[in-house]
Amino acid sequence: MDRHARWLPEMVVADECFDATGVAALLQPIVERHRRDSLRLLQILREAQDVLGYLPRTALTVIADAVGLPRARVEGVAGFYSFLHLQPVGRYRILFSDNVTDRMLGSAELMDRLCNRLWIERGKVSEDGLVSVDTTSCTGMCDQGPALLVDGRPLTRLSAERIDRIGELVRAQVAVSDWPREWFLVADNIRRRDVLLAHASAPGEAMRAAVARGRERLLQELQRSNLRGRGGAGFTTHTKWETARRAPCVDPQGGRYLVCNADEGEPGTFKDRVLLASHADLVFDGMSVAAFAIGAAQGLLYLRGEYAWLLPALTENLARRRRNGLLGVAACGQEDWSFDIDIHLGAGAYVCGEETALLESLEGRRGVPRIRPPYPAQQGYRGQPTVVNNVETLCKAALIALRGGDWFAGLGTKQSTGTKLLSVAGDVESPGIYEYPFGVAIDQVLHDCGAGNAQAVQVGGPSGSCLALHEFRRRIAFEDVPTAGAFTVFGAHRDLFEVARNFAHFFAYESCGFCTPCRVGTTLVANCMDKIAQGDGSQYDINEIFRIHRLLHAASHCGLGQTACNPLFDTLNKFRPAYERRLRSLDFAPAFDLDQSLSVARQMTGRDDPAAHFDPAGGMQPVDR
Ligand SMILES: Cc1cc2nc3c(=O)[nH]c(=O)nc-3n(C[C@H](O)[C@H](O)[C@H](O)COP(=O)(O)O)c2cc1C
Ligand code: SF4
Repeated sequence: MDRHARWLPEMVVADECFDATGVAALLQPIVERHRRDSLRLLQILREAQDVLGYLPRTALTVIADAVGLPRARVEGVAGFYSFLHLQPVGRYRILFSDNVTDRMLGSAELMDRLCNRLWIERGKVSEDGLVSVDTTSCTGMCDQGPALLVDGRPLTRLSAERIDRIGELVRAQVAVSDWPREWFLVADNIRRRDVLLAHASAPGEAMRAAVARGRERLLQELQRSNLRGRGGAGFTTHTKWETARRAPCVDPQGGRYLVCNADEGEPGTFKDRVLLASHADLVFDGMSVAAFAIGAAQGLLYLRGEYAWLLPALTENLARRRRNGLLGVAACGQEDWSFDIDIHLGAGAYVCGEETALLESLEGRRGVPRIRPPYPAQQGYRGQPTVVNNVETLCKAALIALRGGDWFAGLGTKQSTGTKLLSVAGDVESPGIYEYPFGVAIDQVLHDCGAGNAQAVQVGGPSGSCLALHEFRRRIAFEDVPTAGAFTVFGAHRDLFEVARNFAHFFAYESCGFCTPCRVGTTLVANCMDKIAQGDGSQYDINEIFRIHRLLHAASHCGLGQTACNPLFDTLNKFRPAYERRLRSLDFAPAFDLDQSLSVARQMTGRDDPAAHFDPAGGMQPVDR
């Protein structure tokens, strides 16, 4: 059976059809392979679902017994991740990417078309259990959308014809592995190369350079380079590595850890996808360099579930590195250093990109951000000192090991050294990856990618900032416009209210629910935006959005909640008419129609007289006696 055929169990079977003995026998190899380790719970659940099609109650009980956790804990974890299913899903599971760029390219209409062809309702499983169609947050294919995932495999550049063909293949029950191969090709779309993307080193070259320099000098070079993290926060990499290196290990038997954050969940970002697909050796070299510097014996690459299709090539690469002595005992010929890398798959949760939520997820729990301090560099994975770095940061660290800190510091600006990869998408002629020295002006990027009539650029994804025409002379740099990489362009014909509404729903969906301001606030904001979209909004709702923005900013536990209203705040300030032309009145208008809400009660009581109706002027009509 091939890897993808495993996603197609013969029949989708209901919960009661799974008997405990049969399920235990099916799952035993999985739990044994993971050494019945409760910290590997997420990986166990993912693999169990691959075998069973979904996670029936019996499977949760079997797994809970095997890893020694309460059943409720296991169910709580399974319920957290959107790629894990406690109910049967279709044998073909189709998920349309719901990023704003996919929508701009017609993804919503294409999804409706497919649902019509298959006679199913969005979000439901067809009656015969054959297929389910739904949306998921950004799949990281914004440069080649509209895109979808079918049983975890990406299909890009969708068109109406292709959708019709997909409908036929599903109805004919053709295995996904037999669908046209060219549909699954993912292009890198590298449009501008600088020092990173133009670099072609042999596997292990940077690692050998690091070992040759020795730990102290390597760290000195890193300090001189002034490398700052490329994952968003821009923390100085040298400080993080030094802290982890010097922090005492809580468990002297366990070592330090190095984690590569490949969760890349920010809508509009896809640069790490390209690095993992075409520069994996540099990524693994970067991980090895970091591990050598801090003295870690174990590296973990946290790969977002949407990129599961990259797993076979990455696993093969690691096997090759082991064969070549770059990983394992005496890695890179260092008698006193063992180092290996393990890949963990995420399961569809944006918040798991936040470094402490990621650590929770790595430890088999719900991806709820931890309270800091202690910081991961002090107490991270398994309570041990842990460095968490973005994929691109680690690639840059590999280049610094090879070419030195002064060389790197000579690129970019004083406060933002080196280069930055931008994931350019939206209303542009040439979407793809552009590498620039830090300090490049927004309008330079717009010129290079062929954005003729841009009215706005969303830099850094929904949690970043929305720049208007008068700001296009600003520069990509930590001291001006910082970004993790997303650069999404909106032409003059785009409705920025709808863009902001898409982002509001994204945050409401992705909030982990741990703290009340974010859990409730993101939903209230999404509701306000829907109300305005329906033409029922008023100035009251705009004020409400500003009020919630202040609250979220001040009271949220992590960066997700703190930044969730950024796109609304920016668009309200810079593109106010997009909101105001939708407002029904400048006074308060209720969020729902009370009389309409009473219709069910009227139906149940068999009444439709005036007294059973709500009069907006005076409440319920008086009963006529
Ligand atoms: C909600 C949220 C999502 C995040 N997602 C990612 C991500 O997908 N990839 C990433 O590298 N950093 C992400 N971060 C930032 C990480 O918490 C962390 O700062 C980063 O991995 C550190 O690596 P760096 O120092 O190399 O940038 C996210 C932060 C937040 C608050
Ligand atoms: S801010 Fe939102 S995502 Fe972050 S911990 Fe609170 S509820 Fe979870």
